[in-house]
Formats: sequence, structure tokens, C-alpha cells
Amino acid sequence: MSLGVNDLVDELNSLKADFSKTVDRMIKDTKRQEKIMLRSDKRQQKEYDELQLRLNEVEALSKEVEETQREVVFTMGAIGESRSKETGNHVKRVALYSELFALYYGLDAKEAEMLKQASPMHDIGKVAIPDAILNKPARFTPEEFEKMKEHAVLGYDMLKFSQRPLLKMAATVAYEHHEKWNGSGYPRGTSGEDIHIYGRITAIADVFDALGSARVYKPAWEDEKIFTLFREERGKHFDPKLIDIFFEYLDEFLEIRNSLKDV
Ligand SMILES: [Fe+2]
Ligand SMILES: [Fe+2]
Repeated sequence: MSLGVNDLVDELNSLKADFSKTVDRMIKDTKRQEKIMLRSDKRQQKEYDELQLRLNEVEALSKEVEETQREVVFTMGAIGESRSKETGNHVKRVALYSELFALYYGLDAKEAEMLKQASPMHDIGKVAIPDAILNKPARFTPEEFEKMKEHAVLGYDMLKFSQRPLLKMAATVAYEHHEKWNGSGYPRGTSGEDIHIYGRITAIADVFDALGSARVYKPAWEDEKIFTLFREERGKHFDPKLIDIFFEYLDEFLEIRNSLKDV
């Protein structure tokens, strides 16, 4: 006997019930999964927020450390200069001249910025030179001059053990800022590119500023007199490439000087 219509309807109804149960279960499962995902999303968001917070703290801290380093270095430079009765603006100008030289010489912006911060320390060794010599208003005797020259090594000795890149750079600057391109400088008498570029740059920046400023023992030099000396000392006292940069970008050097006049 074939199945009757009623049987078929019963069969279909039972299938329908099964199907609707399955669909209900699927809906429930989907909703539960959504809840689980939402919960884990929230947890992840929370973890992310916490991480971000910690990162911000670390960033603030390292900025603080960097700024402290910068201030310590600058203050040390100012101390060194104040011992020799130079003005606070001297170190600021030397810093900016050094940065400008570094950029045009081809050092990258970060290194140039570091040299800006390290170059004010060139005379830090003067803190260890006796006052009577440092502030003598007359010419040095040969012995006094020898003593005075020690400030390069003294500064180097103070800084050379530091592991901080900025202080290491300052050590080099202190050590080599009185070396001359032709080897007639001190303390080691190194010459040419054997003198570190940081030393060569600080040397010209320091001399340019010192000549153009009045000191207890001398008036400020006229610009023309400075330029003549620089032309004469190209390849003698100073790195010829740096002298060329100086004249090529003279406007920019003079602009720095004008913006930071001694009062
Ligand atoms: Fe010096
Ligand atoms: Fe100086």
C-alpha cells in the first residue's frame, strides 16, 4: 500500500519541527558566539589601552631623561665658559654655528642636533684651571700657557668614561677643539681628517665667535679682519671645507650672531 496523503503531511510536519529546532539552535549558537566575541573584544581593548598607557609613560620618561641630559650638558658648558669670563650667549652661539656647519658638511640632522648640544662643552676642562691663570688680564707666560692648554685633556678626562652618546661626543669636542688642520694645534697635534669632524667644527665655531666678541683683554674684531684671518687660515688652522661652508652660507652665520647678541 502506498503512503496516504496524511502520512506524507505528518512526515513533512515532523521534518518541519526538526528543521525549526535546528534553526533555533543555530540562532542560539550564533548569539552566544557574538557574546563571546564581544567579551574578548572588550578584553583586548582593555589590554591595548593599558599597553598604550604604559608606552606613554615610557615615552615621557625617556623624554625626561633626554631633556635632563641636554640640560646637564648645557649647564656644564656654561660653567666651563663662566670660569673664563665668557658670556652665556657665547656657548649658545657656538652651539648653533656648530649645528649649521654640521648640516652643510653633510652630517645627518640627528647628529647635527647632537653636536649642537655637545659643542658648548668644549671648555669644560677650564673648571680645573687655576683662577689666577684663567682670569689673568695680561699675556700668559710660556708656563702659564702650557697650564692653560691642559684644559683640553682635562675636559676629555672628565667625560671619556661616559657611555652616553652625547657625553662621548662632548668628550671628543673637549679633546680636539684646539687641534689645527696642519697639525700645529694641541694637545696631540693631529692633522687633517685625523681630527674628528666634531673637533674641527667646534674649533671654527668657537674661534669665529671668540674673535667677534669683546673680552676683558680685547675688543671685538671687525668682520673684515675675521674674514681675512679665515681666508689665511684655510687649510692651516681650519678645515678648508668648513671655511668654504662659512663663506658660502655667511648670511646664516651672521643671522645667528644677530639673534643672540651679548647684552
Ligand atoms: Fe678651549
Ligand atoms: Fe669657547
